[in-house]
Amino acid sequence: MEKHNVLVVGEGGREFAIAKQLQQSPHVQQVYCAPGNVGMATVGVETVAIEENDFPRLIEFAKHHDVVWTFVGPEDSLVEGIVDDFTAAGLKIFGPTARAAQLEGSKDYALNFMDHYGVPTAQHHSYRDQTAALNGIAEFGFPVVIKENGLAGGKGVVIAQDREEATQTIRELFANGQSRVVIEECLNGPEYSMFLVLSNGHYRILPMAQDHKRAADGDRGPNTGGMGAYSPLPQLSDQDYEQMVKEVVEPTVKGLVAGNYHYHGILYIGLILTADGPKVIEYNVRLGDPETQVILPLLETDLFELVDHALNDEPLPEIQVSAAATFGVVVASAGYPQHPVHGQMIGKLPTTDQVMIDYANVAGTLDQLVGNGGRLLMVLAKDSSLQAARDRVYQYLAAYDWDQCFYRHDIGAKAGLGSNKL
Ligand code: AMP
Ligand code: GLY
Repeated sequence: MEKHNVLVVGEGGREFAIAKQLQQSPHVQQVYCAPGNVGMATVGVETVAIEENDFPRLIEFAKHHDVVWTFVGPEDSLVEGIVDDFTAAGLKIFGPTARAAQLEGSKDYALNFMDHYGVPTAQHHSYRDQTAALNGIAEFGFPVVIKENGLAGGKGVVIAQDREEATQTIRELFANGQSRVVIEECLNGPEYSMFLVLSNGHYRILPMAQDHKRAADGDRGPNTGGMGAYSPLPQLSDQDYEQMVKEVVEPTVKGLVAGNYHYHGILYIGLILTADGPKVIEYNVRLGDPETQVILPLLETDLFELVDHALNDEPLPEIQVSAAATFGVVVASAGYPQHPVHGQMIGKLPTTDQVMIDYANVAGTLDQLVGNGGRLLMVLAKDSSLQAARDRVYQYLAAYDWDQCFYRHDIGAKAGLGSNKL
């Protein structure tokens, strides 16, 4: 079999999981990851000291290392046009163009797309002007959701409980230089993450996952990039899943084709399953972090083949999924997300056959790891049941001394998993 080199762009836990999975493919010679992180050496991935927004140097590297294609992890690079630049240089790259990436880069753009193509979402209004936004609060009940229009790493959303909080949030957003603010009806129901692999109008759906966005147990504390995830979702019925495909996925894909987006990449659909059916709360134009870390180990379809076919407009392989379950908890730096500590000693983390570590913001060496701010790593396990995987992860976490770090203790509670079963 001919083997190829691939390049993954990014440095977090999501890119760790993507690079690890690609490195395991029989089609792959070497995965390079730019800039990557020090933990990636544990899975045979070679890191490259080029920042994820340095497109000219990334292009140069791909040309000189026989890279067959590049997989883009983070949204910033996509929104800034990495795909357009690589394509102009004659290189293959998996991800949407800058135009399509506005589906994540601008909430207002995404809401217009959903309205235009009949994709169910929350009632919403977007405002360019502070007075109009303050007056607009009256059109919504409480709590009400207030969002920055642009990229905010999952941290740009406030669920305001009353008029006073809503007023204050809007004033602060405009005072901090936002030129556009979105107000939305607050939806009620479980939240799920769905990932499509798109090859223009053709798609496959990856296993679904649930993230945990708030920093503290019981969904308290500030919104974060995500504190833990698991897959599959035992609480999601086949009927609800079919409804999501019919009412959300199909109009979305039709819209992408009708709008000439030529979308070859991942589309992440953030959904809330309300009493009124599924509603989209956001599109993202890349895989989720930390969902990717739990989804990819369940994927039996070869990831290289899937991406390669999608990029080359060849028939997409069926998605084969393991009957096992994966469960992962993020270890974050004390103070995250507002003021994360940097430089705390993590040391050397043992791994077992059952428990894996997907590294993210770590520095130092594998024997002497130190935290580098934010979400440091994920401890994850794959087992025959979610409960068994959960127990392995929490036992591992409990046995280690996490200096100046924290993690949530209730990941998976919404799937009925809990310590009472330990
Ligand atoms: P976003 O930045 O759009 O991903 O939103 C971050 C988080 O805020 C989501 O994961 C939800 O938990 C919450 N959220 C966003 N929009 C809504 C909404 N309309 N109703 C309820 N919760 C929301
Ligand atoms: N897990 C949330 C995100 O990747 O946006």
